[in-house]
Amino acid sequence: MIHLVFTHLAAAILPALFFLLGFRYLNRKGIRRFYDDFWRTQSKMALEKIGIMAIDQMPEPPRIITDRDSINLALQLVSALHELGFFELFGSRRAVTEEEMVSHLGISTKKVRAAIILLMASEVITLDAYGYQLTEKARIYLLKESPFFVPLRPPVPPKQFIKTLRIDRRGGAVENWSKGISFDPERLAMQQHEQSFALGFALYRSGLLRDAETILDVAGGAGSVCIALALSDPRFKLEMIELPGSLEISRKMIGKYDVLNRITCAGMDMFVQEWPRQFDAVLFTNIFHDWDDDRCGILARKAFAALRPGGIIILQEALLRADHSGPLWTAHWSMTMSLYTRGRQFYGDELEALLSANGFIRVKTHPLLGYYSAVVGIKPRGISRKRS
Ligand SMILES: C[S@@+](CC[C@H](N)C(=O)[O-])C[C@H]1O[C@@H](n2cnc3c(N)ncnc32)[C@H](O)[C@@H]1O
Repeated sequence: MIHLVFTHLAAAILPALFFLLGFRYLNRKGIRRFYDDFWRTQSKMALEKIGIMAIDQMPEPPRIITDRDSINLALQLVSALHELGFFELFGSRRAVTEEEMVSHLGISTKKVRAAIILLMASEVITLDAYGYQLTEKARIYLLKESPFFVPLRPPVPPKQFIKTLRIDRRGGAVENWSKGISFDPERLAMQQHEQSFALGFALYRSGLLRDAETILDVAGGAGSVCIALALSDPRFKLEMIELPGSLEISRKMIGKYDVLNRITCAGMDMFVQEWPRQFDAVLFTNIFHDWDDDRCGILARKAFAALRPGGIIILQEALLRADHSGPLWTAHWSMTMSLYTRGRQFYGDELEALLSANGFIRVKTHPLLGYYSAVVGIKPRGISRKRS
């Protein structure tokens, strides 16, 4: 009898098990192929073939690459807000405040702030002296009772996105990084390289490093910015610091461009360990946007200590416009940061104030590439007092 039960169970379970194992195998194979394709394109020869060194001004990526994700996230957010009765909140009222949104939606203030920025960049709400209100476009095309209402069809069901909005995320990249632990370095290196490699070439062409020879790239990831600088100018002496667990991938990437002898890689926790000193320039690319204001302050002070007097700090970040009009891409990036990290995208004057508050002078923002800017400050000459 027992034998019969086992036979029937095996007949029912084994095909399902084989199907699941097969699916997993094919899925993994697909992912590995995706990784292999990425690494195949990373080489000095491929770069030379594109003729990058002969191009005077680094072109920004086409909008079809950047803007697809921003529109998807905006659609996702507006659909979730429909589900949460956000639009009814406005009713016949003059305006709605941030606190009212927080209490109505049951979402943290940090995420509501990021959502407000994304909604303003998406022309859904505006701000005046009374508070936030729906735009005329939103009233006509986004209210469900309007004859002009257009269903949004977001990429994932609104209920699923509401869960993402509401969970207080534990684990993930930044929580590991905050403890000095590397997180999924190969996958993240690929994502970072997509954005930062072009920024390195744009930074060189900006002329901001014209007086610099020794350069420290803090949390340099796959080494993307250092590689671009090493290939652009034989004068540069480059050093990058990264979490020890990520350095194997950094060295793999640097090796692909044949500049291992030009870039020194030091493994350390940037918040805990002492940085090398006396640099002409200290760079951060997409670093401040991962962290809260306290941690950004620590990084600014450590950079100050690592610079020689007269040296410059450069923050490469996508900045929000002061008039709250976006850009939509940066607003979506800020929402993404608020969901998955401790940080957000900044307004230019916020980063300028942060650098000034930590001793830097002649702080200024320069356009860099596409949505990216460089916020630059100088360590005054004649200062020897230790700030770290
Ligand atoms: C958003 S990525 C930017 C990487 C690189 N700057 C770029 O633009 O390609 C953040 C990087 O910070 C590194 N990182 C995070 N926490 C760190 C820490 N405590 N010490 C050193 N590096 C850290 C991560 O490993 C990751 O490579």
